[in-house]
Amino acid sequence: MADADPHAVLEETAQAIRTCTRCRLHAGRTHAVPGDGPFDSDIVMVGEAPGKEEDASGRPFVGAAGKILDRALDAARLPRGSVFITNVVKCRPPGNRSPRADEIEACRPYLLTQIAAIRPKAVVTLGSTALHAVLGAAPELKDARTRRLAVDDVSVVSTYHPAAVLYNRGLERTIRGDLGKVARAVRSEAPRIRSEGPREGVPTNPLRSSGAVIVNPEGRTLLLCLAHEGTWGLPKGTVEPGETLEQTALREVHEETGLKVRLIRPLREVSYSFYWPPAGVNYHKTVAYFLAEPVGGEVRPEPGFEEARWVTHEEALRLLRWPNDRDVVSRAFEARRRTAARRRTRGRGRGSRRSARRPR
Ligand code: URA
Repeated sequence: MADADPHAVLEETAQAIRTCTRCRLHAGRTHAVPGDGPFDSDIVMVGEAPGKEEDASGRPFVGAAGKILDRALDAARLPRGSVFITNVVKCRPPGNRSPRADEIEACRPYLLTQIAAIRPKAVVTLGSTALHAVLGAAPELKDARTRRLAVDDVSVVSTYHPAAVLYNRGLERTIRGDLGKVARAVRSEAPRIRSEGPREGVPTNPLRSSGAVIVNPEGRTLLLCLAHEGTWGLPKGTVEPGETLEQTALREVHEETGLKVRLIRPLREVSYSFYWPPAGVNYHKTVAYFLAEPVGGEVRPEPGFEEARWVTHEEALRLLRWPNDRDVVSRAFEARRRTAARRRTRGRGRGSRRSARRPR
């Protein structure tokens, strides 16, 4: 789907980083260092912060720590050009001090955007600053190394920072061992089938779909994770002959989630085009979305979905792969907020009329 082309997202993010003034570190930089590597990497590596050489060149891990990282990548048979390498903060802290909490916080959205755009099979954190920046609350590095951790369903593997080898030579073997394990895990995973940007010279088929943003009384919405893509989306499906958009939304929600819902109001229609590798064609798809609330049934994701999960608005914005879906969900929460505010105002109005009539 063209609107979330990961390459374009990475380019835009890099551009934003180069002109960023969100924290004090911008004042001393020669170059910001957004990160390097292919947009479809299986692995994203996260260091701490650019040093002197990185600041001078605008590229990550090109100094002494970079040489150690290169040797570890070689030992793990991971070509450097096949992984995306970046840092927690993208500008050099003065005198190579550790980045401060507010600097990490200001820069973190860039890192999360990069990870979300690439959707790698694994994020490798180099050192505890990266581990804590990626995961928020995380165990100590020595414990994290042996634990299965994840950020938005991408597994997180933590190892030591290559610069630690400068003080403790024994750690070089440990880092190589950790990278070797990641490389083997990533190679053994089946490749995921994903839709791609539309291709020229292949037929384009129109598709009409309808679906819903279901919001429960606790203010959570139900997302589905597609097993073959590993991506989160909203319940929806193709309109069958003779069906109205409302009928399709009700049927598809029930089939895909197991829930019976009541449609409250239309939200918006979204359109996008994509190439679907198994079929070898482009699709131009238009989806009508409705705001809905659950009225029965129980959550049982249809085969083909890895998981169904009730999430907050904020979690939905982090998990959903496509900007269109994120916009639809935001509209649903906004519509719900406005309805609740109207009810409160009406309630207050009635309350004050009643008290005005009440005899003294
Ligand atoms: N170079 C980087 O780019 N990041 C580090 O964390 C260390 C050196």
